Amino acid sequence: QFSHSLKSIARNLKFKAYIQQSSELNRIFKGAAKRFVTGDYREDGVSVGNQLIQKGYRISLEFIGENTINKEECLQAKDEFIALIKECGDRRLNARISFDLSHIGLSIEPELAYQNLMEMAKEAQSHGLSLMISMEESAKTDPILAIYKKVSADYSNVGITLQAQLHRTVEDLNELLHYPGAIRIVKGAYQEPSDICTPRSEKLDQRYLELVEICVKAGHQISIASHDNAIYEQVIERGFLRHPYVEAEMLYGIRPEYCKKLKEDGLPVRVYLTYGVEWYLYLCHRIAEYPPNIYSAITDMICR
Ligand code: FDA
Repeated sequence: QFSHSLKSIARNLKFKAYIQQSSELNRIFKGAAKRFVTGDYREDGVSVGNQLIQKGYRISLEFIGENTINKEECLQAKDEFIALIKECGDRRLNARISFDLSHIGLSIEPELAYQNLMEMAKEAQSHGLSLMISMEESAKTDPILAIYKKVSADYSNVGITLQAQLHRTVEDLNELLHYPGAIRIVKGAYQEPSDICTPRSEKLDQRYLELVEICVKAGHQISIASHDNAIYEQVIERGFLRHPYVEAEMLYGIRPEYCKKLKEDGLPVRVYLTYGVEWYLYLCHRIAEYPPNIYSAITDMICR
């Protein structure tokens, strides 16, 4: 419930505008976001990403944004992603570019998102880079999968995220194994109706592990994207992370010590970095998915 309320607050544009208008409030909230967001600019993401690669991590990079309802802003977002891809390519930074399809047009019309994605996939391919589509709320699952399948006919460097919490996902996964792109498995960040979704529970963890096992047995490229110890204990015990096509993936600023430990144990770890001025929404997502993060946020607000 708490988590749901925070997301409602996050989406309340009046509250957002209020924070942005007050330079003092803006400074305070931004201090808290800094733990999770590299900065406002592309250069911030690229620079932190470069440092992490030097330390032996893999990286994903996202220009933050979602649910864009203005066509001009969708095109600007696509242009920013293209610029990011070019910059990573020029600097030989082996980044995976992550994004929401609703940031580049899905909330207006699927064809716009598809055309923008095709352009990004082409640019990424020319630099030997890959893209990863995030998964959004269940009302968008079908259009997102349809766009993924369509773009996969031309580009194998585009991957897709699946949410273990949705009942449909085992079936979706078995179909998507016939497509070339990498698959990222997450538990799911959206509150969904109980007839289509399993909430956080042992049952969900079992399903998550089942999905991972299906991918591993199929020899399909997979990111195990979780911060959960119970999941990692199992995937390590079963030897899944020792396959060359399997990796762990965690969000920047969350459990960095654990990321380091996995890396030092010789396991492949990808860190998901974000940048952009929409840090406010991203901060709310992080607190909403794990309410204890509010304590670190308050500490950061007071101490910075
Ligand atoms: P879960 O939420 O069950 O928490 C288990 C334990 O993990 C907690 O008790 C705590 O110990 C630890 N933990 C979890 N979250 C933490 C946090 N924020 N801070 C500190 N500790 C934490 N979702 C989605 O719907 N679509 C998407 O495209 C993506 N993409 C994505 C990419 C990557 C790389 C990651 C890591 C996550 C996503 N997510 C996502 C979010 C995902 O669905 C999920 O909400 C979070 O990963 C939290 O779920 P966990 O599997 O970590 O465990």
